Amino acid sequence: MCNGEATHYTSGCEEELKLVTNDKTGTRIDEVAAGIYRISTPLDVIPGGFTFNSYLLADDEPLLFHTGYRKLFPVTLEAIGKVMQVENLRWIGGSHFESDEFGALNELLTAAPAATPFGAEIGVLTSLNDFAHRPARGFADGEEFSIGSRRMKWLYTPHVPHGWDCGVLFDQATKTLFCGDLFTQPGAEMPPVTESEVLTPSEGMRGMMDYYAHATSTSAILGRLADLHPSLLACQHGSAYRGDGAALLRELAATIEGNGNLSARPTAVTGVAGGAHAD
Ligand SMILES: [Fe+2]
Ligand SMILES: [Fe+2]
Repeated sequence: MCNGEATHYTSGCEEELKLVTNDKTGTRIDEVAAGIYRISTPLDVIPGGFTFNSYLLADDEPLLFHTGYRKLFPVTLEAIGKVMQVENLRWIGGSHFESDEFGALNELLTAAPAATPFGAEIGVLTSLNDFAHRPARGFADGEEFSIGSRRMKWLYTPHVPHGWDCGVLFDQATKTLFCGDLFTQPGAEMPPVTESEVLTPSEGMRGMMDYYAHATSTSAILGRLADLHPSLLACQHGSAYRGDGAALLRELAATIEGNGNLSARPTAVTGVAGGAHAD
């Protein structure tokens, strides 16, 4: 709907989709589904740039999925403030323990004293309960919890795409899958939402930097995610994809089964400026 509110998600209302919250960093916030806001900051960590996204869910118990890098905390905080008071956050979590997922966790926990950090049970065991200033909640595979009008479901996805603590979060109300590093797309200028398939660019990324663990259960796990029939794939890097998420996940599984052992050594692994980790 084109209702004149600057951050609302709509197709065909391009002027409403853009809200830059920091001119210096290019950080922006966009509503990509009902009450779901994508906070995105481009960084020059690979040639052509790369986006780092957090997703903010407005509800009775507001939830932030991915904190962003610690060094991005001021601009992430600034963006959250465009939608709600940060102290109202109740849940702060992420897919797996890396700095782009959890780097600013403690800064956010300080700013939001009632918020609970969360992740996979394994992530809590291995990292979160040591790193976080407050005890974390570890979700089991398939565990559900309510944040108000939405029921969230945690799915444990070990090693998919990487990290034995890896998991994804599904909003059953909007059928949005917060899929972390799956479908990672390179580029700095990425629309908040695209209806063009994101498998081709993410496979290009995988060819450049092989960010997948070479695990044995990848296809089965992707099949489980497809069974959720997500209509929005909320990627941490690149655009969110609106469309038949199940079909795209199954296509990804088939692609990985077909060429999982990439024939060429990824060329960009050692070419990233400053050795920065980019996914
Ligand atoms: Fe990652
Ligand atoms: Fe990531």
